[in-house]
Amino acid sequence: MPSSSYQQRRSQIEAYFDRTAADAWKRLTSDAPVSGIRATVRAGRDEMRATLLGWLPSDLSGRRLLDAGCGTGMLALEAARRGADVYAVDLSPTLIANACERVPDGLPGRIEFAVGDMLAPGQDQFDFVVSMDSIIHYELDDALAVVAGLAGRAREQVLFTFAPRTTALAMMHAVGQLFPRADRSPAIVPVAERALRSGIGADAGLGAWCVGRTRRISRGFYTSQAMELVRS
Ligand SMILES: C[S@@+](CC[C@H](N)C(=O)[O-])C[C@H]1O[C@@H](n2cnc3c(N)ncnc32)[C@H](O)[C@@H]1O
Repeated sequence: MPSSSYQQRRSQIEAYFDRTAADAWKRLTSDAPVSGIRATVRAGRDEMRATLLGWLPSDLSGRRLLDAGCGTGMLALEAARRGADVYAVDLSPTLIANACERVPDGLPGRIEFAVGDMLAPGQDQFDFVVSMDSIIHYELDDALAVVAGLAGRAREQVLFTFAPRTTALAMMHAVGQLFPRADRSPAIVPVAERALRSGIGADAGLGAWCVGRTRRISRGFYTSQAMELVRS
């Protein structure tokens, strides 16, 4: 049973991505020109996506992958280009509709897009679970519950990102409040890496997993850190 704070946050996130920021998000995740601030975010996100994909096997033929909080489906699409059988889920019907429009013919793999909660019961097991910049919107306890829930569906590897709590990032968030609303990112909850690691170590649901690679990416107004969980 998801906590009330998770449910409350989830509905704020859904409203933000499905309505307030849907057009801006579609544009950010396309090739269309964007402002200088957003261009740094796009560059950082491209690097993050490449990092996560780089931690997966290059040949994903026949492998099942869950893209949890897929947005407009950029990572799902790349995974399917490598042959993966992708289940990509997001809270926002608007972003999922946009993701469906972006799927070209003749992909080596396949993608099933779905609207819903990434923790909704009833999905299969996956070889790989990837969640890029989706857990960054939850408080630590809820973020840990999400990571444990996703790990419960993964056979081999779980890859996710978090917003690292650093002094520079705290200052950047404060400066971000000075920009026009259209240029602000959605509320992100910075998490100290040490707290996250100790939470993962203490979570009974994550007993079979340990932290593998991690990589922080900072480009202008984008800062996010990738973390890998592997079987211990
Ligand atoms: C910052 S966007 C990242 C989208 C995508 N992963 C990418 O990197 O392009 C965060 C996404 O996570 C989705 N999200 C957040 N919480 C979710 C949940 N509990 N279940 C499904 N999607 C969720 C949001 O709707 C939003 O589209």
